[in-house]
Amino acid sequence: MIPTPPVVAAPGTETPTGQSGNTLIDKYGRRVSYLRLSITDRCDFRCTYCMAEEMTFLPRDEVMSLEECLRIAKVFVGLGVNKLRITGGEPLVRKDAMWLIEQLGALPGLDNLVLTTNGSQLERFAAPLRAAGVKRLNISLDTLRPERFRAITRIGDINKVFNGIAAARQAGFRRTKLNTVMMRGTNDDEFVELVRFSLANELDISFIEEMPLGDIQGRNQTYISSEEARTILGQHFELTPCDESSGGPARYWRIAGHESRIGFISPHSHNFCDSCNRVRVTAQGELHPCLGQNDVMHLLPILRGQNDTDLRQAIIDSMGIKPFGHDFSQQLETPQVVRFMSMTGG
Ligand code: 5AD
Ligand code: SF4
Repeated sequence: MIPTPPVVAAPGTETPTGQSGNTLIDKYGRRVSYLRLSITDRCDFRCTYCMAEEMTFLPRDEVMSLEECLRIAKVFVGLGVNKLRITGGEPLVRKDAMWLIEQLGALPGLDNLVLTTNGSQLERFAAPLRAAGVKRLNISLDTLRPERFRAITRIGDINKVFNGIAAARQAGFRRTKLNTVMMRGTNDDEFVELVRFSLANELDISFIEEMPLGDIQGRNQTYISSEEARTILGQHFELTPCDESSGGPARYWRIAGHESRIGFISPHSHNFCDSCNRVRVTAQGELHPCLGQNDVMHLLPILRGQNDTDLRQAIIDSMGIKPFGHDFSQQLETPQVVRFMSMTGG
């Protein structure tokens, strides 16, 4: 049931930390404190669930410059956003990505700068990312087997990812999290091994239900619920529910004697929309208030034609179009969200 919208928070409200300025509160009373910023739609992999075989990427002039990304981030931070995830595509294939990350790392008020990556470039970038102040990494990994990895990513080399994971640890990253998209018939026989790998390497891991983003057929044959995955894992490990949350949609479990957390992200079987605290901005400057809906606010023309006061106002206004939630369960075969994940960022 959709709750009655409470009053839209008046611009100018004090933030909980007491700093003056606006707080972003949507029309359902949810405070938005987390921005996921995609800095490129390009990637050096072509994961089957994320992209079509032949992808057309955006022309450069339709992609925000890194300076524009920084302007957007600054405005969000001025509006009380304290967590920012850099994502893609694969963010580390963007030329000079480190420049932006260093600027963001030095931004007062931004307490929690994190990054989602496919790991392919981490051997080179783990140490500079850490030095720039990135707090945590999420690395996408759906399998441990080279052949299978090649089939899922179409072009990826798993050894680069293994080296990237090792480099992250060496650079001082802790609690690095693997993201595993669950696919029946593709990697459902590997969940136990993936958990063992995570325990051995002191990684957290989240199993993600496949979401119907982009026009890719056949998803309802490959869909696996978190419930089912947890039953499989429960036959091998004693899972204890874990209270702490990373503030996101995952629910976590622990295995006695290990630091690793085992998470499940269940957009289908568990609706987490009521506590949603985030919005997404794509590499082309589209603000998407919900991953699972098509609502959008176009920030690029404002970035290019107007000043930061207008940009700030547009972001405040976007709180008025944040929908209550997604409805993925109805959309497995007929996606209503036509963007691929590589467009919106994970
Ligand atoms: N459903 C679920 N997860 C997806 N990802 C990409 N596309 C989808 C999808 N359709 C994942 C990637 C990565 C994260 C950013 O999102 O594997 O881990
Ligand atoms: Fe690239 Fe990630 Fe999409 Fe795979 S899921 S193609 S690694 S953006």
